[in-house]
Amino acid sequence: MALGQFTRQDPIQRSMLLTALYMAQEQYGYLTPEAIERVAQRLQMSPGEVYETATFYSMYRRRPMGRYVLQVCEGLSCHLAGGADNLAGYLQETLGISPGETTADGLFTLQTVQCLAACGSSPAMRVNDTLYENLTFDRVDQILSELRGG
Ligand code: FES
Repeated sequence: MALGQFTRQDPIQRSMLLTALYMAQEQYGYLTPEAIERVAQRLQMSPGEVYETATFYSMYRRRPMGRYVLQVCEGLSCHLAGGADNLAGYLQETLGISPGETTADGLFTLQTVQCLAACGSSPAMRVNDTLYENLTFDRVDQILSELRGG
């Protein structure tokens, strides 16, 4: 099969799509309509197929975000560990924003997600590509301070 003759079900193409979306996000900051169109062209897919994948995974951003995207897990394990609601609430209070919002300085965007695959060391939070586990409020304060450069 020559390059560019993939079918929608081709696992190699699907794998390339995830990587291409990640790279486009890094380049554009988020998946703009232009980024979706370029990825679709490069992989010879329809923009609709690419958009469908981009909307399925929480790691892809479809609108401008802060420099640091805080994804707080609200999954069952984190909830049972007493962290999910408390941690999200603590971050809302500390940052002065609700889930889906970005701080006025453009530094932090807060999101809630369903599982970060760190159930054994909950509660967990991901900041961009870094996973933080066994979180406490003190550790969250330390992380925010480090991210602010303090
Ligand atoms: S439920 Fe929180 S990491 Fe899985």
